[in-house]
Amino acid sequence: MKKRMHLACDMSYTHLDGRWRVPGSWVHRTFPDMGMFEELARIAERGCLDMMFFGDGTGIPATWQDSEEAAARWGIQWPRQDMSPFIAVMSRVTRHLGFGLTYASTFMHPFYVARLLNSLDHVTGGRIAFNVITSTRRSDAANYGFDELMEHGARYDRMEEFVDVCKALWDSVAPDAFIWDRESGVVADPAKVRPIEHEGPFFKVRGPLNTVPSPQGHPVLVQAGGSPRGIRASAHFADHVFASGLALDQKRRHRAALDEALVAEGRDPAKVGILFNAALIVCETEAEAIAGRERLLQMIPEEAVGAYLSHNIGWDFSTLPERFSPHELAAQIKATQASPVSLVSRFADEVGPGDTVSRRDFFAEGLKVATGYDRTIAGTPTQLADYLEEHFEAGGSRGGFMISHPHATPHDLINVVDLLIPELQRRGRFRREYTGRTLKENLSED
Ligand SMILES: Cc1cc2nc3c(=O)[nH]c(=O)nc-3n(C[C@H](O)[C@H](O)[C@H](O)COP(=O)(O)O)c2cc1C
Repeated sequence: MKKRMHLACDMSYTHLDGRWRVPGSWVHRTFPDMGMFEELARIAERGCLDMMFFGDGTGIPATWQDSEEAAARWGIQWPRQDMSPFIAVMSRVTRHLGFGLTYASTFMHPFYVARLLNSLDHVTGGRIAFNVITSTRRSDAANYGFDELMEHGARYDRMEEFVDVCKALWDSVAPDAFIWDRESGVVADPAKVRPIEHEGPFFKVRGPLNTVPSPQGHPVLVQAGGSPRGIRASAHFADHVFASGLALDQKRRHRAALDEALVAEGRDPAKVGILFNAALIVCETEAEAIAGRERLLQMIPEEAVGAYLSHNIGWDFSTLPERFSPHELAAQIKATQASPVSLVSRFADEVGPGDTVSRRDFFAEGLKVATGYDRTIAGTPTQLADYLEEHFEAGGSRGGFMISHPHATPHDLINVVDLLIPELQRRGRFRREYTGRTLKENLSED
């Protein structure tokens, strides 16, 4: 039997970076209308998707020209809500669809997050995943008391300790601790409720968690770090990994690096899937899909591109001279503790150490990054199913894809569900119905 894929959809950007005005997006309804999200959840469940995912960022981009102005004007990476109450509501109009939620271990406290996710796991009946991020963004950090980003490696040290604390808290009350015996009045067996007494470099937490163990016990843990240190953190705790990487050999390399790190942690690589980012436009005809992709280049002006790149890379690109050396710039960016994985490193990989490139070329490529044009695959259901099958094999046939940031919502998600999913089902590559009781069970189906 062919290995089946898992599919999630990232709905974090439905209204961001110009998508809200693309033909096929909601008209007369704007973010954060709860009705839109209820409808999206029903559509995703009709397609038997594993999970609807929400990434997060907590600052309005302000790196470009040291100001929020451009981002505020063009809706770049803002507005964003804390999606936890939205997920609670969406779970009431669905029965199987999982929900992924993101918090930054750099800023949050593990006790608060462990308790919140435990409650959400109850509300959703065991359908919660937690995407743990470090956050590479200065405007996020500035809201939590940081003048500078925490050092890249230290962010991941903190993340590992954060998750270790969460896991200990989720285990601090045994699944069978509660008795609720009317006769005797005993609520819980005290022998099954244990403090964790955690004391580490970043956190001091006594525990136990003062909640009822949730259906999944631990929510599904997801991590997306792409650097070697980020991959090591995934190997330490992630049940599933998110990864970018368009090309087949990038996928192979990420899979190999993760497998090596998992073995070093004493874990079985067969059990940890990667959901690779896949930005898709699927239409009945190829011409329609390609036209949809070309429209992306009209979504936002240059100032908005600058705000987007500066925010995500952590560098004010308004200061770029007419020509610059990508190698020197990459080294300067790395020295400020921003993520080394970026458009700048891509330029640096393509030119020699002494070479320079123009600001104009950088912004032209930047437009493709900011709009998702450079990573969007457009085609018919057959073409996209061929693409996904080939890349699934290259990525080690474990996990599947995160269908990321549909450009026109709900149109593009409806097309995924009504055109692409039936093609994958016909090929035996995707489920026709849910079989698991929880998200964890659905994600671990072969
Ligand atoms: C599918 C996917 C989802 C991500 N979601 C978020 C997010 O919601 N918020 C965020 O700040 N970073 C997000 N990231 C970025 C990663 O957490 C990470 O910072 C990035 O891959 C750089 O890796 P590094 O920190 O190991 O250098 C995401 C990455 C991927 C591939």
